[in-house]
Amino acid sequence: MILMNDFKSEPPELRAAMLGAAQRVLESGWYVLGNEVVDFERAWSSACGVAHGVGVGNGMDAIEIALRALDIGPGDEVITTTMTAFATVLAIFRAGATPVVADIDPETALLSIQSVERCISPKTKAVILVHLYGQLRQMDAWASFTRDFNISLIEDCAQAHLANWHGNFAGSFGVAGAYSFYPTKNLGAAGDAGMLITDDETIAQRSGQLRNYGQSKRYHHPELGMNSRLDEMHAAMLIERLKWLPEFTERRRKIAATYRSEIVNPLIRHLAPPEAPSAHTHHLHVITCDQREALQAHLHTHQVQALIHYPIPAHHQEACLGIARDPEGLQYSELHADTCLSLPCHPQMADNDIDVVISAANSFQRK
Ligand SMILES: Cc1ncc(COP(=O)(O)O)c(C=O)c1O
Repeated sequence: MILMNDFKSEPPELRAAMLGAAQRVLESGWYVLGNEVVDFERAWSSACGVAHGVGVGNGMDAIEIALRALDIGPGDEVITTTMTAFATVLAIFRAGATPVVADIDPETALLSIQSVERCISPKTKAVILVHLYGQLRQMDAWASFTRDFNISLIEDCAQAHLANWHGNFAGSFGVAGAYSFYPTKNLGAAGDAGMLITDDETIAQRSGQLRNYGQSKRYHHPELGMNSRLDEMHAAMLIERLKWLPEFTERRRKIAATYRSEIVNPLIRHLAPPEAPSAHTHHLHVITCDQREALQAHLHTHQVQALIHYPIPAHHQEACLGIARDPEGLQYSELHADTCLSLPCHPQMADNDIDVVISAANSFQRK
């Protein structure tokens, strides 16, 4: 079976480097928020071209901490896309703010500026822009839109490691960027990990406090924070994995470009091409098909795993059916949720695997 991810077939040199990193940590005798975390914060923030990185427990916490560091909470509204991992919306709830979900552009599956504009109210404090599937798009438009409405732009970069537009990286356009290093992400730890990146020293300092019980210095708690500290073990392994990320990202780009040119089945639609090759990291390669379930089953019989990201938009989740939303509805998100399908696109795929996926997709016929 060609899987969506295949960690077991990663290069032995990478595995050896990760084991070496684990040994380094064990021998140091320091396990949480130590030198490895500081080194990884420096390495990742500089890879993203920003001044500060604050290592946290996971990507969802990075979003919550960004909101709290901006003093966004009860009584404030935060707009985001309903077509995202539930964590994006949950982080807004966790910060005590009110999420308002907007619709997507059907060509890209990314947040629609027009829909966000319909969601703006006097209580709006921020937009969380999700670089879904790894796509960085319309960044100039988002920067000027949020400036015109005097609201903060926070980037959810969980799927967009190293995506860049004219040399500016995901997370550097807004006031803060939130990264997840969940194992399946393009840069993934051997467990949960995350980071908030920012150029703003005050936000960085406040975030460092919030992740550690709201502690300013040892045993002093000027505010009620959380426990969202990054472990040394994850940071040390991420330092090793980061060395491979450019090569792995190029491989994803190559696979995605091959799918785009060689999957020619008229029953399968591609999303809009990237604005530039560098502006897409192809965390997921998503196509749409009106007969999505039949296509998924067909691929499965050809030994190709395909998954759905995401089958249920946030406003259809049982926990938040009454969530505030675009007054004109969220029909493009609903359509996308019913038709989207992610094909395997990961750096361990062999050329032959790519050919198998392409011929399986092209041989699908209307049921
Ligand atoms: C778009 C998006 N935002 C946020 C998150 C949350 O990251 P984590 O699972 O590390 O909390 C994820 C990960 O699933 C994601 O894909």
